[in-house]
Amino acid sequence: MTGQFIVKDPFFKKAKALGYRARSAFKLIEIDEKFHLLHPKMHVLDLASAPGSFLQVISEKVWPEGRVVGIDQNRIDPFWNQNISLLQADIFDTARITSFFSTLWLSHFDLITSDIAPSTTGMTGVDQYRSIELNLAIVELADTFLKKWGNLVLKVFVWEDVNDLVFPIKERYQKLARMKPRACRDRSFEEYFICIGKKQ
Ligand SMILES: C[S@@+](CC[C@H](N)C(=O)[O-])C[C@H]1O[C@@H](n2cnc3c(N)ncnc32)[C@H](O)[C@@H]1O
Repeated sequence: MTGQFIVKDPFFKKAKALGYRARSAFKLIEIDEKFHLLHPKMHVLDLASAPGSFLQVISEKVWPEGRVVGIDQNRIDPFWNQNISLLQADIFDTARITSFFSTLWLSHFDLITSDIAPSTTGMTGVDQYRSIELNLAIVELADTFLKKWGNLVLKVFVWEDVNDLVFPIKERYQKLARMKPRACRDRSFEEYFICIGKKQ
């Protein structure tokens, strides 16, 4: 049944045809078509990157002078693109992340993207709570590593009100827009939060 569903999925087929590692690529492409977040020469941090389709989209857009750093707790297979650097780490391991950035001579990014997903339990309330915890950690990482006026993209599991996340974002960013790209499965609770213009 699952296999049947995947084979029929047009985004899955298109990702295969275009050489993207996952169908998620089309979520970021659609977000960027609407918000124009990605530009040449940018330095971008992509959190929760495995297997790496966001990294492929970002690398193409910022190439050749821009750079992208991908971090995931799972291994990400290397890319031939020389503007992609990879670290296998938990997003809560800020000491390792900071020291990795210093080896790259990078300290601040123009854009941070995250497609983080907790391992789901099937209990929607619990999954939303875990997703919010992860996203709050990412908002804190962005306090340190995102440039002033920079933008942040978060994937959030939304089931009921998400004010625990919305309030901290509104304190820190000029604007919060929410979007469900077409490539998100209808039955999924995921939305993307586009946090625009970090205030300081
Ligand atoms: C939907 S996948 C990301 C897909 C990716 N954006 C792409 O385009 O290929 C979600 C990822 O979140 C990662 N993840 C979940 N919790 C994490 C954590 N605490 N630290 C680092 N990565 C985490 C998982 O390992 C998984 O690879």
